[in-house]
Amino acid sequence: MRRERRKVLANERIGPYTLLRVRRGGIDPGVPGQFFMLEAPGRLLPRPMSLCLAPSRELAFLIDPIGPGTHALCALEPEDELHVLGPLGNGFDLEVGRPLLVGGGIGIAPLPYLSERLGGPPAVLGFRSDRHAEAAALVTNAQVCVEPTLVTELIPAGLDVLACGPEPMLEAVRAIAPAAQLAWEAPMACGYGACYGCAVEIEGVMKRLCVEGPVLCAA
Ligand SMILES: Cc1cc2nc3c(=O)[nH]c(=O)nc-3n(C[C@H](O)[C@H](O)[C@H](O)COP(=O)(O)OP(=O)(O)OC[C@H]3O[C@@H](n4cnc5c(N)ncnc54)[C@H](O)[C@@H]3O)c2cc1C
Ligand code: FES
Repeated sequence: MRRERRKVLANERIGPYTLLRVRRGGIDPGVPGQFFMLEAPGRLLPRPMSLCLAPSRELAFLIDPIGPGTHALCALEPEDELHVLGPLGNGFDLEVGRPLLVGGGIGIAPLPYLSERLGGPPAVLGFRSDRHAEAAALVTNAQVCVEPTLVTELIPAGLDVLACGPEPMLEAVRAIAPAAQLAWEAPMACGYGACYGCAVEIEGVMKRLCVEGPVLCAA
């Protein structure tokens, strides 16, 4: 894990999201599901982002502009520089026999890299609109649905589910697939265990999601 200053290579719009491509240099892309803290220009704290794609020489992040930090990241231009810290946390366990990737909304962010590392397994993706669903093009072998159809309706039985999405989606996935690996979110200030800002209750014990997670087994 290193905090490095890196140049922006490109900034591409995909539906309402931005794919921010950053020069990789010597940074280890880590395991899919791990995240990086990205310096948001003009903001005091960095923002956690899952690694979306890891082509050679690049780290790419899919960003949903929902507030001041993510808007600042989406406004970065090629040749701008930002600090990048990572990879952080625990990613997905890739030792699964019959993987099925499940993503909802911006929760699809870690799935392109995960799909690549697993050799393009089937995926089911759910979005709130056709415009949001444009991001599905980043994930190979994906079946896509738009609300009112819910992505949980597309999950067949008997597969090893690896999922990322909003909390209600993850709760629904957990009910269907108790052995699923789920990537959770919590507001994070440091990303490496120092601030306790991401503490969540797991099995009755307070744990830091940036250290224990963000990927946890549903059970
Ligand atoms: C491990 C991890 C990986 C992430 N990966 C991605 C990614 O790949 N792409 C992406 O677009 N976003 C990702 N996020 C979420 C992203 O970090 C937040 O949306 C961002 O920090 C919001 O910053 P902001 O300044 O734009 O908005 P803020 O003003 O900080 O937040 C806007 C609203 O969202 C809430 N909020 C902020 N962060 C979170 C959070 N983490 N969980 C729940 N509610 C939150 C705030 O309470 C507020 O209501 C990830 C979060 C985590 C923890
Ligand atoms: S974000 Fe600081 S301890 Fe987890």
